[in-house]
Amino acid sequence: MTNSTDPLTLVLVGPMAAGKTSVGRRVARRLGVPFIDTDKRIVAAHGQIPVIFAEYGEGHFRELERLAVADALAEGGVISLGGGAVTDAGTRALLGAHPVVFLTVSPEAVADRIRGAGRPLLESEDPLERWTSIFEARRDWYEEVATATFDTSRRPMQKIADEIVTWRREQR
Ligand code: S3P
Repeated sequence: MTNSTDPLTLVLVGPMAAGKTSVGRRVARRLGVPFIDTDKRIVAAHGQIPVIFAEYGEGHFRELERLAVADALAEGGVISLGGGAVTDAGTRALLGAHPVVFLTVSPEAVADRIRGAGRPLLESEDPLERWTSIFEARRDWYEEVATATFDTSRRPMQKIADEIVTWRREQR
């Protein structure tokens, strides 16, 4: 799966607000490799995500996301994906050759994290109910692409990051 020239590439997937960016940044720092957040790349190149969804639709966003994931994998490092990236078969295929961490989280733990704007799929009267049903609909895909799973519900992000670093070093 990996070799001595591999820059400790590692991909983080999981539902919205599981901690992918926050954990990913810490893991990258500890491994001494670049951190890439594909959502941020898309925003930098194409504008705000809610605007992309509203003007061009989710399908277009998934295409931009697939291209951003391909570019990030070619560069290497710790790569954090948006929660819905695994819904795209092409993106799932890209992940096949890489170590993928599934960050999971309980609805109780995520409730406080999903307040605020910026996630078009959670715009609803009951964002937590939406979050839960979206997660359940995608769970099999997360499990399909995952090499390992870590739960972020009740432990500090730094502790989870440390465990992922240990796990990733063992994969070499
Ligand atoms: C999405 C998750 C978001 C972002 C977009 C769509 C999803 O990323 O890519 O709003 O479909 O779950 P986060 O998981 O970082 O919130």
